[in-house]
Amino acid sequence: MALDRKPTPNDLNAFWMPFTANRQFKKAPRMLVAAKDMHYTTSDGRQVLDGTAGLWCCNAGHCRPKITEAIQRQAAELDYAPAFQMGHPVAFELANRIIDVAPKGIEHVFYTNSGSESVETALKLAIAYHRARGEGARTRLIGRERGYHGVNFGGISVGGIVTNRKMFGTLLAGVDHMPHTHLPALNAFSKGQPEHGANLADELERIVTLHGAETIAAVIVEPVAGSTGVILPPKGYLERLRAITKKHGILLIFDEVITGFGRLGSAFGAQHFDVLPDMMTTAKGLTNGVIPMGAVLTTADIHNAFMQGPDHMIELFHGYTYSGNPIASAAGIATLETYREEALFERAADIAPYWEEALHSLRGLPHVVDIRNIGLIGAVELESIPGEPTKRAFEAFLRAYDKGILIRTTGDIIAMSPPLIISKAEIDTLIGTLADVLKTLP
Ligand SMILES: Cc1ncc(COP(=O)(O)O)c(C=O)c1O
Repeated sequence: MALDRKPTPNDLNAFWMPFTANRQFKKAPRMLVAAKDMHYTTSDGRQVLDGTAGLWCCNAGHCRPKITEAIQRQAAELDYAPAFQMGHPVAFELANRIIDVAPKGIEHVFYTNSGSESVETALKLAIAYHRARGEGARTRLIGRERGYHGVNFGGISVGGIVTNRKMFGTLLAGVDHMPHTHLPALNAFSKGQPEHGANLADELERIVTLHGAETIAAVIVEPVAGSTGVILPPKGYLERLRAITKKHGILLIFDEVITGFGRLGSAFGAQHFDVLPDMMTTAKGLTNGVIPMGAVLTTADIHNAFMQGPDHMIELFHGYTYSGNPIASAAGIATLETYREEALFERAADIAPYWEEALHSLRGLPHVVDIRNIGLIGAVELESIPGEPTKRAFEAFLRAYDKGILIRTTGDIIAMSPPLIISKAEIDTLIGTLADVLKTLP
């Protein structure tokens, strides 16, 4: 039965929209009412090519039958099971499937409902892990400038995006930050990983010297920083971070909420860069963005540190009502099957060179000061309008939407991350339309 809903509600006031210019939006709403594969349908009946996989999450494209049917079936069979002290088979099955595609050495899955919750979980695990091993002084957490780790207190504390932090008080104590790796003077218009900046990992040594390794629990970084406007790891940088953390007994957490599930052409960034962290935070592509679900993936060493004391005792006092929710788990299994059956991670790797060339064809257009890419991620950085940062890129976003493509902007950076099913012709449409937009920008 069709739902009795108007495509555009009369009153938009009640819904306080997240990360949105509410007043601007409500004056001229951009309303999506349907989606299929690479396209959204708008409330005024237009097709919009999805250049962002929703919010970096619909890696298999939209309304994929296998995922839709799995959700429908699961909702009718077992809608919910208590997450604590009870289990259901679907969550266990999904965990095994995740480990099948995870890097060798990653063996356990702790479920959450979002990227933000995965980050909070991983940070708590890091501190509790050291405590469980008798190193209770290791409580400091190290993030990175311009890092994005969701919006909860731990995540914004280790995160490094000023607008996400400055409104919210003093945040977590005992947090420090490494410098970001955005070096436009040296690396502008790099294709793939930039040449310069691996030495910035050595800043971690400086922080270790400042605080003492024995006080530091973990370092968290995105293998590729996405939400800040796509900042890539310079060649050798992640390897150095791994070596330094290992040397000092500090855990390394990769926040793979964006890089997980095929975005770089491998299941995870850890495999793409061949660097094994101690934990990985995931969400988004785990269920193709269709049902909220996240997961923290850990090594056996992390997990086993907690498996002590009497058998009847709860080992970790942490978890969510919806951890491993049956419907989300069913969506996750169907999503992983879709990725595998259609070889979507390999597809992303195969089409990445075409994506790279198309993207860099925008070089030389008005206001373009840098272009960056890796896997199926691309960013076009624009020169800001003097005194009005963010305005030029936001205008590009609005004009692009009018012309039938969905892009994302952060500051004056345009970021794109299409579903992994994108065709060469659709890449041409996306980049060609963006070129037209850039030529008309103020
Ligand atoms: C690297 C990273 N971590 C965490 C998050 C937060 O995820 P969520 O919005 O699901 O809480 C995001 C979201 O974009 C992200 O990119």
